[in-house]
Amino acid sequence: MNVDIWTRDARTLATDAVAVFVFEEETPASPELMPFDAALPGLLPTVFGTEMRGKTGDIVTLHATSGLEAKRLILVGAGAREKFDYRALRQRSAQVARVAAKKGVTSLGIVLRDHLDPMPAAAAITDGVITGLYDPALYRKPKEDTTTITSLTLCLTPAMSAAEATVRQGVDRGITLAEAVNFARTLAQEPSNKLTPAEMARRAQAMAEREGLECTIFGRDRMAEMGMGALLAVGQGSAQEPQLIRLSYRPAGTNGDQGPRLAVVGKGITFDTGGICIKPRDAMWEMKYDMSGGAAVIGAMQAIARLKPPMAVDGYVAAAENMPSATSYKPGDVLHSYDGKTIEVIDTDAEGRLVLCDALAYARKDGGATHILDLATLTGAVMVALGQERAGLMGTDSAFIESVKQAAAAAGEKVWPLPLDEEYGELMKSDIADIKNLGNRYAGSITAAWFLREFVEDVPWVHLDIAGVAWLDGDKPDMAKGPTGFGVRTVVQLAEQMAAAQVN
Ligand code: BES
Ligand code: ZN
Ligand code: ZN
Repeated sequence: MNVDIWTRDARTLATDAVAVFVFEEETPASPELMPFDAALPGLLPTVFGTEMRGKTGDIVTLHATSGLEAKRLILVGAGAREKFDYRALRQRSAQVARVAAKKGVTSLGIVLRDHLDPMPAAAAITDGVITGLYDPALYRKPKEDTTTITSLTLCLTPAMSAAEATVRQGVDRGITLAEAVNFARTLAQEPSNKLTPAEMARRAQAMAEREGLECTIFGRDRMAEMGMGALLAVGQGSAQEPQLIRLSYRPAGTNGDQGPRLAVVGKGITFDTGGICIKPRDAMWEMKYDMSGGAAVIGAMQAIARLKPPMAVDGYVAAAENMPSATSYKPGDVLHSYDGKTIEVIDTDAEGRLVLCDALAYARKDGGATHILDLATLTGAVMVALGQERAGLMGTDSAFIESVKQAAAAAGEKVWPLPLDEEYGELMKSDIADIKNLGNRYAGSITAAWFLREFVEDVPWVHLDIAGVAWLDGDKPDMAKGPTGFGVRTVVQLAEQMAAAQVN
């Protein structure tokens, strides 16, 4: 995507379309709309109050634009002005891009409204356009006549024209975030016959080489030597070798051994059949996205490598395929985790916590993490509790929980806390081993988190259960159905926030 900035009159921008946001109760006479009303006498009043009420989701394309250089004027309902934040700006920008691209628009201008900060506003628009245009049809032959938007122009109002340099920074940030989100979406969209654990490791490695990160990959033999009995058990029923992927970002000019070190750990189950406790066939195909947490980690590390916050960050992905076979692990098996704790397997479909526990313990013991965030499509129960709107957030350290919540809010990704009282931990006691991998039938997301908690010990830790938010069942105005890339922006924001807190 080529992104330019236009500081002259938006009416003189010669693109296929120029888009303007319209707030509720705005009229063609409001200061920001007046220039367009003046250029197109009588046209705006024909849609205002009917097709265009400024409500979120309203969108009108006008063609009789002889008073403008652009071929079309797109009016985009933006809702109430005081509720229009960066997330809304990103979503509405994505919506315009999707609508415009379907109409054959290849060059799009978007007018910034000046009640938001120019830097994050430019980032939100750019991010929205690029993620909005993402096409999940990875393996469909493109139709010969399909076009997409290849050029975006941000039009600054006269009041904003002094901020051009800041707007450019925002554009670059938006591009970086969107590319990271789309990268994570592609990994999640890839089917499991293409994206095996080894392929996931190769893609992480290729990204690391391109972006200047260090990448280490542990295969079956290395993990066996290290004693990662839980991660290995999950992968042992599959012909695909499990992999532990580590991506390390060390900022230049800082001593990586001092100060906070953030570890971000992702569940990377490239396909979850449930194993011997096999899942029902309905929608089992979707379980290719059970590596979305890992994908978010890899995507976020790409963005971190580009944005260069002054703090050490390690990304870990625990990748395996959960299959039923003659070599599979079985209910009742006792596993020896990397941490030293023994685990009784009650259900082979509760495999995410098993691969994660070895990665978490590794991040804590060998990786020197001072803070650990994990992202995992861990439980169906979180969808029962929170639906597809918010990720479940659980953790041990109230200050770190607060940081992650703040980062998520700033990144425009929604999370909601669930409690982790001691009593829930009682449900994970085993009669034969230190812990079992299943609680009772209630509070499944919390007992799953309790299991993970046993492996991070006293390192401040937050867990995001993204099972409900990592996948969209149907197209939305602002996003294609399929993988969402949830978590990428929050991780990046968290790293930057922690780096800033350390410098100050
Ligand atoms: N990968 C699933 C969780 C999941 C479910 C993710 C639906 C996305 C959509 C996980 O490994 C799993 O199977 N969890 C079980 C846990 C149960 C066996 C305790 C579940 O949620 O049913
Ligand atoms: Zn499972
Ligand atoms: Zn799973």
